[in-house]
Amino acid sequence: MTPEENFMRKIEAGEKIEPKDWMPDDYRKNLIRQISQHGHSEIIGMQPEGNWITRAPSLRRKGILLSKVQDEGGHGLYLYSAVETLGISRNELIEALQTGTAKYASIFNYPAQTWGDMGAIGWLVDGAAIVNQVSLQRTSYGPYARAMIRICKEESFHQRQGYEIMVTLSRGSAAQKAMAQDSLNRFYWPALMMFGPHDSESAHSARSMKWKIKRETNDDLRQKFVDQTVKQIEVLGLEHPDKDLKWNEERGHYDFGEIDWDEFYNVINGNGHANRQRIEHHVRAHEEGEWVREAMHAYRDKKRSAKQQ
Ligand code: 3HC
Repeated sequence: MTPEENFMRKIEAGEKIEPKDWMPDDYRKNLIRQISQHGHSEIIGMQPEGNWITRAPSLRRKGILLSKVQDEGGHGLYLYSAVETLGISRNELIEALQTGTAKYASIFNYPAQTWGDMGAIGWLVDGAAIVNQVSLQRTSYGPYARAMIRICKEESFHQRQGYEIMVTLSRGSAAQKAMAQDSLNRFYWPALMMFGPHDSESAHSARSMKWKIKRETNDDLRQKFVDQTVKQIEVLGLEHPDKDLKWNEERGHYDFGEIDWDEFYNVINGNGHANRQRIEHHVRAHEEGEWVREAMHAYRDKKRSAKQQ
């Protein structure tokens, strides 16, 4: 059996591929691309929410948001550790993010303008991420699957705390309910874009499905998210942003309106509201953190030389 045949045998048998296993170069490259961009999304996603920690309306809300943002940083580190097993260094990852050769989720290029956005992001963005990440727990690459299992445990808190903000606002004053509706209107469609282009337009899906990197397609996961969100919007007593939404008895799913793909490609190609700001902030924070990395390396070298004596 050739290495390729043995690799495909393992994939078809549902076995995990581990770092030391033989794998096709394109499998490795596709994983480096997806896992690194997933990690970048977690790290950049800390910015819109981080901006609201000092402006949270209560100490309880501040504590919750602080722990969520801290969780996202941890998720980014799990994913960077998983992708480093494929032979890429942390410096190369950071360089790709900061130079724009690597992407991160377009949703984080939308500004978080009100406290209602903290609710919509937790509820819709983390809600969409959960739909995607629960599926990725079954991805064929071992370190990625294990990182997903760990991350999914924390994501449900993220989504629930966001939905609780939306419940509080939608049951509050007219102005608070209007704030919740405005946040829903601004974040609903970008949340659908998180699942990527239609399967027919997806550059990577066919091979990602064949190699079981992806276990469900962009459109299937998006449909799951649309279906689950309808009832949640009803409970909030808010208006659904999609005027074309309609239950399709035959399909057993909701038919929904067309996504603005011009906006999607415009944002992922760097022309979103906050693309430049997000990267400038990351570069500044990375440079300001140089002393921490130097101290860690000095400590590591000291420990190493003490061991050698
Ligand atoms: N934002 C930015 N780029 C996107 C995108 C999005 N929402 N959706 C697709 N793209 C990019 C892809 O990266 C690819 O570009 P590339 O070739 O330069 O990498 C191109 O558009 C074509 O899309 P494909 O569907 O062919 O690409 P994929 O097969 O990689 O599918 C994906 C896209 C569904 C996002 C897939 O990569 C994936 O499942 N990634 C893992 C999950 C993830 O990254 N989630 C991001 C959010 S994490 C998050 O929200 C954390 C939460 O805790 C806040």
